[in-house]
Amino acid sequence: MATTRKVACVLVVWALVAAGLGPVSARAPLGRKPQREFDYFALSLQWPGTICASTRHCCASNGCCRSEPLQWFTIHGLWPDYDDGTWPACCRRTQFEMDKILPLKDMLDKYWPSLYCSSSSTCFSGKGPFWAHEWEKHGTCSAPVVQDELQYFTIALDLYFKYNVTEMLSSGGIQISNGKEYALSEVIDTIKHAFGGSPQIVCKRGSVEELRLCFDKELKPRDCLTTSLTNGSVSRTKHCPQYIKLPKYDPLVLANSTGEIMTQFDHFEVSAAIYTA
Ligand SMILES: *[C@@H]1O[C@H](CO)[C@@H](O)[C@H](O)[C@H]1NC(C)=O
Ligand SMILES: *[C@@H]1O[C@H](CO)[C@@H](O)[C@H](O)[C@H]1NC(C)=O
Ligand SMILES: *[C@@H]1O[C@H](CO)[C@@H](O)[C@H](O)[C@H]1NC(C)=O
Repeated sequence: MATTRKVACVLVVWALVAAGLGPVSARAPLGRKPQREFDYFALSLQWPGTICASTRHCCASNGCCRSEPLQWFTIHGLWPDYDDGTWPACCRRTQFEMDKILPLKDMLDKYWPSLYCSSSSTCFSGKGPFWAHEWEKHGTCSAPVVQDELQYFTIALDLYFKYNVTEMLSSGGIQISNGKEYALSEVIDTIKHAFGGSPQIVCKRGSVEELRLCFDKELKPRDCLTTSLTNGSVSRTKHCPQYIKLPKYDPLVLANSTGEIMTQFDHFEVSAAIYTA
C-alpha cells in the first residue's frame, strides 16, 4: 500500500515537472532523499506581550491588534525535531487546505493566531496563512505520529490545553507584569515542576519571546534540548539573560494604528522566519 502511494506521488511530481512547472521542482528537488523520522516534538508557544511590542502596523489577521488583548501564550507550532538539534522540514507534498480544519477555526483564531500582518511562506503553496506555513513545513514531517492536517492541529491544540503554561507560571508566582524581572532558573524550574520536563526559552531583549515544551513520540513530557540554545543554533540575540521579563502588552496603543493596513513584507517576520527556518 505504501509503495502504491509512493509510486503515485512520484508520478504526480514527474507530471508537474513534465508540465514545465519549474519552481515546483526547484523547491523540492526530485532526487532528494526522504527525511528520516523525527525524534521528539517541541510545542512552541509565543508570548504576545513581547512580540506585539514590535507591532507597528495592524490588520485583521494580526492577533496583536485585537481589542481583546491576548493574555496567554499562543501557539507558534508543533515541531518535529531531531535529538542532534536539527529538524526535518517540508517532508510531504501535501498542501494546506483550510477546509480540513474548519471545525477548529474558532480555537485556532483564539489560541493560534498569527502575530504579524504579512502572509507566511509555505513549502508547497507559495504563500498562505500562518497555519499553512506550520502544516506544510512541520506538520508534513510529523509522521508516523501525525497522519494528516486535521490530526496535526488537533494534537497541537490538545497538548496546549493539557499543559497550560500561562497557568503554570502564575501558579508558580510568576505573573505577567511590566517592569518585574524573574530569574531564568526560577522560570525554568517552575515549568519543569509543573510540566515534568525542562522547557526551552527564547528571549528578545531580555523578554520571553517563546517558550517550548517538548514531548516524546507518545506525547509524554520530556526535556527539551537546552544545549541547542548555547550552541549556536539560536542567535546570540535570542539568548535569555539571567533575569527575564514577561511584559504585558497594551492593546490601546496598537488600536490607534488599525487604519494602516500593511501590504508589504513585514521585516519583523523576516527575523522570526529565519530563526524557525
Ligand atoms: C555543539 O558544539 C559542539 C562543539 O563545538 C559540536 O561538536 C556539536 O556538534 C554542536 N552541536 C550542535 C547540535 O550543534
Ligand atoms: C490558560 O490559563 C490562562 C490563565 O489562567 C487562561 O486565561 C487561559 O484561558 C488558559 N488557556 C486555556 C487554553 O485553557
Ligand atoms: C492615538 O491617536 C490620537 C489621534 O491621532 C493621538 O492624539 C494619540 O496620541 C494617539 N495615541 C497613541 C497612544 O499613539
